[in-house]
Amino acid sequence: MRILLYAGKGGVGKTSVAAATGVLASRLGINTLVMSLDPAHSLCDAFDLDRTLMDKNRGAPITVREGLAIQELDVHEEISKYWGEVHKYITVLLSASGIEDILAEELAILPGMEEVAALLYVNQYAKEHTYDLIVLDCAPTAESVRFVSLPKTLEWYMKKIFRVERKLMRYMRPVAKKIYDVPLPEDEYFASIESLFHRLQGVDSLLTDPEITSVRLVTNLEKMVLRETQRAFMFFSLHQLSIDAVIVNRVFPEEAQGGFMAAWQKSQKEYMDLAKSFFDPVPLLQVPFYSSEILGQNALGDLGHQLYKERNPADIFYTRRTCEFSSDNGRYTAKIHLPFTEKAEVELSKIGEELILRIGNIKRNVILPRAFVSLQPGKARLIDDCLEIDFGGNHE
Ligand SMILES: Nc1ncnc2c1ncn2[C@@H]1O[C@H](COP(=O)(O)OP(=O)(O)O)[C@@H](O)[C@H]1O
Ligand SMILES: [Mg+2]
Repeated sequence: MRILLYAGKGGVGKTSVAAATGVLASRLGINTLVMSLDPAHSLCDAFDLDRTLMDKNRGAPITVREGLAIQELDVHEEISKYWGEVHKYITVLLSASGIEDILAEELAILPGMEEVAALLYVNQYAKEHTYDLIVLDCAPTAESVRFVSLPKTLEWYMKKIFRVERKLMRYMRPVAKKIYDVPLPEDEYFASIESLFHRLQGVDSLLTDPEITSVRLVTNLEKMVLRETQRAFMFFSLHQLSIDAVIVNRVFPEEAQGGFMAAWQKSQKEYMDLAKSFFDPVPLLQVPFYSSEILGQNALGDLGHQLYKERNPADIFYTRRTCEFSSDNGRYTAKIHLPFTEKAEVELSKIGEELILRIGNIKRNVILPRAFVSLQPGKARLIDDCLEIDFGGNHE
């Protein structure tokens, strides 16, 4: 079983690429589901299907060809079906703090119900072996970030807060009712949280297992887009998800000629080199700029071939984590994987949130998590093919 997450900025081509992956995989006989987590659903449009078909189905999967189903989550439907009351509660729990320092600082945005619903489905399908491959067409970066951070937040909450709170409520309920006339959560309330938690159990290990889940970042050769891709790269690494490819979409083909095109090609070439320096050694896959929108199974299948060439889209293209960030007793450390690096003088500089490393003729730019931004890189050691950078002590 494989899970592939297609993430990136709005409009870069996530839905097209995710749908194309589904078409190609199903043609190879892999039983596939493409699920859209973006509230602005467009899967159905990519497949050129009638939207009323999807609406009628109320968020359940529909089969588009043999071995391929698509699903657009209907959050309102999910909430009314399962956990209306829990919703309120989750809002409260997520405003509590206490998650590991670095993570907490990244969790500026609170997870929403879309993410919970999607995680529940992923977990259920995995447990029931419904599909061989689940392709997730993520919401734009900021929200997909909530998606991956949710299991950890919930786990922390259940361990640290839930049990104590539940016990406390037993004593507090009669008192609060009598004195303040405020209702406190009932037992069923806690029972539903507990059942929700049980249904989510294990999803974290699915997402962080590089043999199961791979993130594929979709990007375009433009400054702002690449910047966001770098940030997403850092974020997924921080959450211990493995990124096995960066997909560069809308690359102008060589044969496109002319003054206007030449300028674009030149700028794309420069950004392509930059992208290589950012994401190397993670494979960079390219998709050409098509002369029209990509609609329907044939067009999607073609995009799939252009993207994966001879590869099987469900394979794992890369497993190593390229950067890891940790804090241990207030000491912050970044580990950057630099394969094929000779031992040489390491030059480090930091501009804002960006760490720039130069080792011999290799240059790498790494966006740092928020907790690292106020710190300065200190000693760096190359251990095997990993550069360990000490960022010093607690910055409080
Ligand atoms: N390589 C490409 N060439 C031409 N048009 C593309 C390409 N990739 C995507 N598109 C078109 O761009 C639009 C946005 O793509 P979409 O996949 O919906 O992006 P996202 O899901 O990231 O918001 C769609 O109309 C799609 O058909
Ligand atoms: Mg989309």
